Order: sequence, then structure tokens, then C-alpha cells
Amino acid sequence: MAETLTIALSKGRIFKETLPLLAAAGIEPLDDPETSRKLILDTNHDDVKFVIIRATDVPTYVQYGAADIGVAGKDVLMEHGGDGLYEPLDLGIARCRLMVAGRPDAVEPRGRLHVATKFVNVTRRYYAERGRQVEVIKLYGSMELAPLVGLADRIVDIVDTGNTLRANGLAPLEHIADISARLVVNRAAMKMKHARLQSLIDCMAAAVAATA
Ligand code: ATP
Ligand code: PRP
Ligand code: MG
Repeated sequence: MAETLTIALSKGRIFKETLPLLAAAGIEPLDDPETSRKLILDTNHDDVKFVIIRATDVPTYVQYGAADIGVAGKDVLMEHGGDGLYEPLDLGIARCRLMVAGRPDAVEPRGRLHVATKFVNVTRRYYAERGRQVEVIKLYGSMELAPLVGLADRIVDIVDTGNTLRANGLAPLEHIADISARLVVNRAAMKMKHARLQSLIDCMAAAVAATA
């Protein structure tokens, strides 16, 4: 039997939106991660497995070769740095924007700007490029709360419809990057399992092009 191909995916929108692209390559899971407690899912191929992990852990699994290939948001890749990763394909799914947001009437604070985010590296880089010294406050979720309770002046977060910002009386202020999910491949695996990975990438690229 051929060596196993391991594909890293996160639950939720990445899993749902990647499934049709993998189906185009003839790969289908035998379990649903939303209902199963299994973290390794079998597929219709004995030698292809999915590992179901947190979105922010996908680059790490692929970097260390625990997964050969995975799907991660560009936001997550920008934050991770992309070390040891080959990024061959923009899947055009999970589209959103990475933005600075805050109160619409926000005034500049007298001291340092306090910015709450889970994207601390991206945020430091963004303000450093603008010559701005800011205090970055690391959060793990619900960033929109921070300006409401005086924890931060601004947040850096994902914006899609803007509903979450609006519902919390916040507004988008500065655009940092357009985001979509990318295929990432372990550099060593790309050499060792080249034929299989290249044909998977080609099938997914054709499926992406067909939906564009
Ligand atoms: P976790 O739930 O484990 O904390 P997460 O919130 O990053 O992780 P998802 O919400 O599934 O997990 O987001 C996965 C990716 O989808 C993000 O990295 C981002 O690129 C994109 N994304 C996040 N929120 C949205 C959204 N509201 N609309 C479209 N794409 C989004
Ligand atoms: C994401 C993100 C924002 C929201 C933006 O949250 O963290 O809060 O979407 O989308 P909107 O502009 O359309 O409101 P998600 O739905 O992934 O929930 P989470 O907090 O569990 O990550
Ligand atoms: Mg989310």
C-alpha cells in the first residue's frame, strides 16, 4: 500500500468549504467532524486521512510534517510566518478582511494606543511599519468586547459582513489585508510525495477555477 497522505483541516467553515474541492480530487471523508469525536478521519481512500485540528494549529502540523498538506486562512499564515511551508494555491474560500476596528467616534489616546487581538505578530508589524509604538494585548477570542470595557482602544480582527462589529457598536477603521484560505504543503513532503501531492493540487486548482 502507498504511504499515507495526511490532510490537516479545521472544523467549521474551512472543513465545509474545502470538502467540495477535495471531492473534485476524489477524496471524501467517512465521518463528519461536527458529530464525531474522532480527530483522525478515514476517507474513501485507505491511504488518505484527515486530521481535525484548531485553525491556528494547521501551519504547525504541516511545518513539522505531522500533516503533508492542509488548509489555513491567510490571516493564520501571516501570523504564523509560513516557515517550512509551501503555499501553492489560493482556494478562494473563507473570504474575509483583516481590519483595525474601534469605536466610530474613537479619538487618539494621550498615551500609547492599546490594541487587542489574537494576531499579535501581524499587529506589531502593521504598526511598526507605520512608525507607531503600540501596546498589543493578546486575546484568544471575542476581541469586539475589548473596546467596550476599556481594555483596548482598537482591535485587529476578521471582518466579513461587519455584523459582529455593528452589533457591538464598533466600526471598521483600517484595512490590513484581504484574506482567503490557502493550501499549505510541507516542503519535504512536496519532494518525497511529489506525484500524489501535485495531482491533488492540480485537481483542487481546477475545481477552484471552475467555481471562480
Ligand atoms: P477557533 O474557532 O479554533 O478559535 P477560528 O475562529 O480561527 O478558530 P474559524 O472561525 O473556522 O476558526 O476560521 C477559520 C478561518 O476562516 C480564519 O482563519 C479566517 O481566515 C476565516 N474566517 C474567520 N471568520 C470568518 C468570517 N466571518 N467569514 C469568512 N471567513 C472567516
Ligand atoms: C469571526 C470573527 C468575527 C466575525 C466577523 O467569528 O472572529 O468575530 O467572524 O464576521 P462578520 O463581520 O460577518 O460578523 P466566528 O463566526 O468565526 O466566531 P468565533 O468567535 O467562534 O471565531
Ligand atoms: Mg472564528
